[in-house]
Amino acid sequence: MAIRVMAPANIAFVKYWGRADHDLFLPTNSSISMTVSGCSTTAFVTFPTDAKSDKIIKRSISGLVTVLSQEDRKSRALYAQIQRIRNLSGQKGFVTVDATNNFLSDAGLASSASSFCAITGALLIAFGLRGIFDDKKEFSRYVRLAGSGSAVRSVYGGFVEWHKGHSCNTSVAEQLADEHHWRLVDLIAIVQTEKKKHSSSFGHEVAKTSPFFEQRVSLVSDRVVGVRQSILNKDFTQLGELIESDSDCMHQVMRTSNPSLNYWNDGTHKVMQKVFALRNKGVEAYYTIDAGANVHVLCQTNDMLSVHRALKQLDVVSSVVVNGPAQGAKIVT
Ligand code: PMV
Repeated sequence: MAIRVMAPANIAFVKYWGRADHDLFLPTNSSISMTVSGCSTTAFVTFPTDAKSDKIIKRSISGLVTVLSQEDRKSRALYAQIQRIRNLSGQKGFVTVDATNNFLSDAGLASSASSFCAITGALLIAFGLRGIFDDKKEFSRYVRLAGSGSAVRSVYGGFVEWHKGHSCNTSVAEQLADEHHWRLVDLIAIVQTEKKKHSSSFGHEVAKTSPFFEQRVSLVSDRVVGVRQSILNKDFTQLGELIESDSDCMHQVMRTSNPSLNYWNDGTHKVMQKVFALRNKGVEAYYTIDAGANVHVLCQTNDMLSVHRALKQLDVVSSVVVNGPAQGAKIVT
């Protein structure tokens, strides 16, 4: 039986937006995230004897089954990843990769982070490269080349920094603290279930056209230091203020790029207003939003029930996904 690899998604506290090198998927800035427990992808690889080409099958929670096209831009890097890992192993033979998400795909919930990480892990195992899979830093180097930068951070559990680096060797992930360090809660208020309008790959390409791009890059190194510190010191107020402001900055860059990318909808605004209202009432909650309309609301365990209730009461919220910090990519039976 094929060995399966499970990789969780992650929520970025300091976002990766824009690439220094598009071919090598090197980011313009370092980023930090929490690996989350409620959203994951499980992938496995088989070697069908009659296969004439490689195939990647993606299964969504709604039951939708898609075969990724080799022509599609984002999938191209994934197919190239199969070739890269096969060459490295010295083996031959086409593969079928089967990846199943346990959450909404393409809605800005980092489904590419979990799926690209799980697929790379499953390929390494299937091609007998267990040594790379077990050496997490090395594993993160390979994940990056699959095409989703955020996937690099899903290699590790807990709280993770992706050092931007300046080459394939130096652009790697590192664990800041494991999943037991701090029981933060990430509640995702779902306000959109359809596919997002613009892929993040496209967003990374046009990011530099924003007049605010360089400004964000110059601010982000201090934010990385601040977020790292607040995680290590478990300072929730400092963390919350920093993550909210980084999310706002990234969305400002998105909206002012050419073309303008606006991922939000009315529901996004209503959830943000609710977060402000909660804070005014003394409930500490902060939002952060990736490339999509859905809103991640961070709080501490003692406030989880009241925040959850407040989000559920909003008519724009169809459901709330509850996440805590999780383990990174691993082999599952
Ligand atoms: O990994 P990508 O190429 O899907 O880009 C992810 C971009 C954001 O989710 C918006 C930010 C991040 O750091 O996760």
